[in-house]
Amino acid sequence: MNTLFPLGLPAATAFYLCLYLATLVVHLVFMHYVLAGSIYLAVGRVMGRARCQACNWQSIIVDWLPFATGLAITAGVGPLLFAQILYGREFATANLLLSHRWMAILPVLIVCFYLLYLQKSAWIARRAWAWRPAIAATACAGFLFIAWSWTENHLLMLDRAAWPGMYATSSLWYESAGVLPRLAAWCFVAFPSLAIELAWQGRLLGDRLDEPAAANTRVLGLSPVRRLAVTALSGWAGTLLAAWAYWPAIPAAARTAITGPLGGPWLIMAAMALVMQIVAWSITLVSERLTRGMLIVMTAAWVTTLLGIAVLRETIRLAAVDLATGKELHQTALGIGGLPVFLLFAVLNAVAIGWCIRTVRGQLATRSDGT
Ligand code: HEM
Repeated sequence: MNTLFPLGLPAATAFYLCLYLATLVVHLVFMHYVLAGSIYLAVGRVMGRARCQACNWQSIIVDWLPFATGLAITAGVGPLLFAQILYGREFATANLLLSHRWMAILPVLIVCFYLLYLQKSAWIARRAWAWRPAIAATACAGFLFIAWSWTENHLLMLDRAAWPGMYATSSLWYESAGVLPRLAAWCFVAFPSLAIELAWQGRLLGDRLDEPAAANTRVLGLSPVRRLAVTALSGWAGTLLAAWAYWPAIPAAARTAITGPLGGPWLIMAAMALVMQIVAWSITLVSERLTRGMLIVMTAAWVTTLLGIAVLRETIRLAAVDLATGKELHQTALGIGGLPVFLLFAVLNAVAIGWCIRTVRGQLATRSDGT
C-alpha cells in the first residue's frame, strides 16, 4: 500500500474505514475521560480529604464519570459494528481465543459502573474517608483491565502465527512484547484529553480559568489551571515514552507503512498538532491562565492529534490484514438498505431522550423551588 490513507483502497472499503475511524475517535474522546479520570481520582483520593475537597477537578470527575462511561460504551458500538464488517474474521478469532477472558469485560464494566455511582452516593458521604480511595482504586483497576483486554484482543487479532498455539493450549492470555507499552500509551494519551475536557467542563460550570486562582483552590501549591497543564504535559511525555518503547514491537512492514506514503503525512499532521498542544500547555503552565481562545486552539490541535493517532493505529493493522480480500463483502454491505428503520428508531430515541431531559429538568426545578 503505497498511497496516502484512505486513497488507493476500494471505494466501499474506504467508506467503511472512514466511518470506523470517525466513530472510533468519538469513542476515544469519552473513553479517555473514563480511563484518565478514574486514574486521576484513584491517585487523588490517596492524598486525603482536605486536598480532595480543594480540587475542583476531582469533584467534576466524580459527578460526571458515570455519564462519561455511558457515553464511552455507547460510542463504542459504532466502531464495533464497522470493525466487524472490515475485520470480521480477525476480530472474531481473537474474541473466541480469549474466550471467558474477553467476555469478562462485561461483568467488570457493570461492577465499575455501579462503583462510580456509589462514589457519588449519599451512602458513601456517611462513611469513613478510607472508603473513597478504596472504591476509586477498585473502579480504576476495572477500567485498566478493560483497556488491557481491548489492547490484548487487538494485538492478538493481528498475530495470526499465535492463533494455533493459543487454540492448542487453550490459553486465555496472549503474551506479546507490544501489549504493555501499547496499553501504557493508551493510558498516558488519555490525560491530555482529560485536561481539555475538564477545562471545558470547568468553564461551562462557571470557573474563571483566565483569572488568578484563589488560594484555597491550590493543591500541592498548584492552581487548577496549572494542575491541568501538568496533567496534559506529563500525559504527552508518558505517551511519547510509551510509543518509543512500543516501536520495536511493531512489525517492520507496519513501521514502514507508518513512515511511508500510507501513514507518513498523517504522522506529520499528528506531530505538528502535538507540538501545538505542547506549546499551548507550556504557555498556560507559566502564565497560570487559560483563555477561551487558547482552549479553542488546544481543542482543535487535540482533535487533529486524535485523528492522526487513529489513522496511524489503522495503518499498523492494514500492514497485517489484506482488506482487499473482503472487498466484495464491503460492496455488498454498502448495498444493504435499512434507512427507514434507522430513521424510525432515531426519532423514537430522540423522543425518549427529550422526555428524560424534560422530566429531570422538571424535577430539578421543583427541588430548587423547595416545593
Ligand atoms: C469504558 C471502558 C472502556 C475502555 C477503558 C476501553 C478502552 C479501549 C482501548 C484502550 C482501545 C484501544 C485498543 C488498542 O488499540 O490497543 C479500545 C478500542 C475499542 N473499543 Fe473500547 N474501551 C471501553 C469500552 C468499550 C465498549 C463498551 C465498547 C463496545 C461497545 C468498546 C469498543 C471499542 C472498539 C470497537 C475499539 C476498536 C477495536 C479495534 O478496532 O480493534 N469499548 N477501547
